Amino acid sequence: VGETLREIHIGLLGAGTVATGVVRLLAENAEKIEARLGARVRIVRIACRDQDKPRDPSVARDLLTTDPASVLDDPDIDIVVELAGGVDNVYEHLLAALRGGKHVVTANKALLAAHGETLMTTAAQHEVDLFYEASVGGGIPIIRSIREALASDRIDALYGIINGTTNYILSEMTARGETFETVLAMAAAKGYAEADPSLDVDGHDAAQKLAILTTLAFGTSVAVGDIPTEGIRAITPHDLRMADELGYVVKLIASAVDTPHGLDVRVAPAFVAKDNLLSRVDGVFNAVLLQAHACGFQLFYGKGAGMMPTASAVVSDVIEVSRNLLQGRHGRIPGFGFRRKRHSAPKLAPPELSRARYYLHVDAVDRPGVLGQVASILGEYDISIAEMKQSGRDRSAAVPVVMLTHDADEGRIDAALRRIDALEVTVNKTRRIRVVEPEVAT
Ligand code: NDP
Ligand code: HSE
Repeated sequence: VGETLREIHIGLLGAGTVATGVVRLLAENAEKIEARLGARVRIVRIACRDQDKPRDPSVARDLLTTDPASVLDDPDIDIVVELAGGVDNVYEHLLAALRGGKHVVTANKALLAAHGETLMTTAAQHEVDLFYEASVGGGIPIIRSIREALASDRIDALYGIINGTTNYILSEMTARGETFETVLAMAAAKGYAEADPSLDVDGHDAAQKLAILTTLAFGTSVAVGDIPTEGIRAITPHDLRMADELGYVVKLIASAVDTPHGLDVRVAPAFVAKDNLLSRVDGVFNAVLLQAHACGFQLFYGKGAGMMPTASAVVSDVIEVSRNLLQGRHGRIPGFGFRRKRHSAPKLAPPELSRARYYLHVDAVDRPGVLGQVASILGEYDISIAEMKQSGRDRSAAVPVVMLTHDADEGRIDAALRRIDALEVTVNKTRRIRVVEPEVAT
């Protein structure tokens, strides 16, 4: 005699890349999920914008609707899975879902970075769960790891390659000499890029994810707008070649480091030494390197974007919510890991006090004495040069002079570069890229 299984009903908001992965994964692993839960998970409605758009055959047409209210207001739906993206609309939708007593799973880091606290409070008030594993690191279980597995420890620093699109672009430009535009189009075709890819290439997606990780790791919420953010648009094939010659690769690094001056948070392209584990993270792979007081360094590595890795994280949240729901529980683990804020206002370290080695690219006319002028200004600001290269010779035009400095304060570097850029012998704005060197060599 067949056992009557409880059914958990899912309403999807979104029928795009990740939502399609969720539909597929729930179907492919239905038997395993049923065995794990002792209950069946069924998608009962899928909201999209355009019902007539061609879609993957796994997305049942008869479940599609263009009316999100038919997901949000249906008393038969237990969990709303938000995979539509954007901020304002979905914020209202998710508030309505939570207030209506529905659990929520989302992959939307932009939404969480902007309204995470309010959404978590609303979930707690209405005795439901809100999970978001897919919002950072795609398929890597980084949120659960920080919030649960490392709840015993004190995290001192985190360094992440947490945007798959930019990592894919930098890797392809480095390995195959492809142009930025060609690789960006490839990343979009593979479903890695955001609907608005400037969120990826200008570093904002990484900053949103860093805001989430910082809250989880340090118990301190940081506004995305307070994170100094630089994307990869200005990185040139010449930078990539110079990095290679000097023993580095260029990566977009999101970092949060607890320093005596406060939390040093930033998203920026960085030189990473070839013997550092992070330098080996290529393509759509992401990695988060945590430095914790008791357990030392831990590296989390896996696919950070794309249909199935992201769907894997979303479905794991659906299973987690379902487990709670079947036991009549909710809110066992606080949304961002802390029941009480550790600091009411975050104390961020002033960027100008942050110390690092720097790669500098100065375009200067090829004339005797010019390098001396540049070096002497750097010396005035206590910046010493570890290595210097002039690429090519052309007495009629400017040539790139690149150098690696020893450790220097960012404020001094910027002040020196303002002076260098004002010289009559330099052209273009001098570019600087930090060297990021968490001390874990292979
Ligand atoms: P897509 O653009 O592929 O899909 C978005 C879907 O949402 C589409 O089906 C669209 O409908 C639907 N939609 C958009 N607005 C509305 C609305 N107002 N009402 C109803 N439906 C709407 O996005 P992705 O699947 O790539 O991303 C979804 C979310 O997951 C985003 O928050 C993204 O940041 C996040 N994410 C994405 C990852 C990835 O690798 N792609 C990885 C991790 C997180 P229609 O199809 O009709 O246009
Ligand atoms: N656009 C994002 C990325 C998707 O490229 O990392 C995963 O969050």
